[in-house]
Amino acid sequence: SEIYYYSLIDSTNNAAKKIAQEGAPEGTLVIAERQNRGRGRIERQWQSPLGGIWLSVILRPYLLPQDAPKLTIMTAVAVAEAIRSEIEIEADIKWPNDILIHGKKVCGILTEMSAELDAVNYVVIGVGINANNDSFSEELKDIAVSLKEVKGQKINRLKLLCAVLSKLEDYYEKAETEGFYEILERWKSLCVNLGKKVNIKSINGSFEGTAVDIDEFGALLVKKQDGDIARVLSGDVSLRQ
Ligand code: BTN
Repeated sequence: SEIYYYSLIDSTNNAAKKIAQEGAPEGTLVIAERQNRGRGRIERQWQSPLGGIWLSVILRPYLLPQDAPKLTIMTAVAVAEAIRSEIEIEADIKWPNDILIHGKKVCGILTEMSAELDAVNYVVIGVGINANNDSFSEELKDIAVSLKEVKGQKINRLKLLCAVLSKLEDYYEKAETEGFYEILERWKSLCVNLGKKVNIKSINGSFEGTAVDIDEFGALLVKKQDGDIARVLSGDVSLRQ
């Protein structure tokens, strides 16, 4: 499959969506050294200086649109496991799709799709990894970290990239042949939220509870103070611990 490589682009997700509209096949990779309009979840911007790994993958899964969060889940597992095996750092997952090291964010995932009611046309999975970039802005320096900072030395971006992509491919095929169960179990074992107090903030207000599980659609199940279980979809919420 094809690789689109840019030294500078607005956003690899924007480029990937355009390339997908034009008919690019599944497996197409878009990757850039730098983005000047990197996008995060909930309309946030994503700082993407030199040294990071900024990529998007185009998929054309045979899935119902409501199953698309599974792709984000498998990507989070692929990234966390690749960091653990290649960089030898204990990366964790924070629901829905942040990768953390010692509580600081090292990677974010932004999944976007084009779909009809009953079929997905394409999915773009955007992955941003703080690899060798340094000097976070004042607002980010307490909540974000790079692999280089944690390791105390530059990491091999190509090796990590290959590990992420190869794990993602493995899980994508596995989900098709064997189903999603094992991937979900791996996700749960890497997730820092389960069993802990969470504060869910959405446009409709916020509430507190204990994160007890995620279901097969990637929704977080939160036990509220009154004992009710709330099912929280990743859409427009932010989560505090
Ligand atoms: C988040 O945690 O809010 C998601 C961040 C996703 C950032 C990546 S970098 C590559 C791709 N292109 C973008 O514009 N965003 C994603």
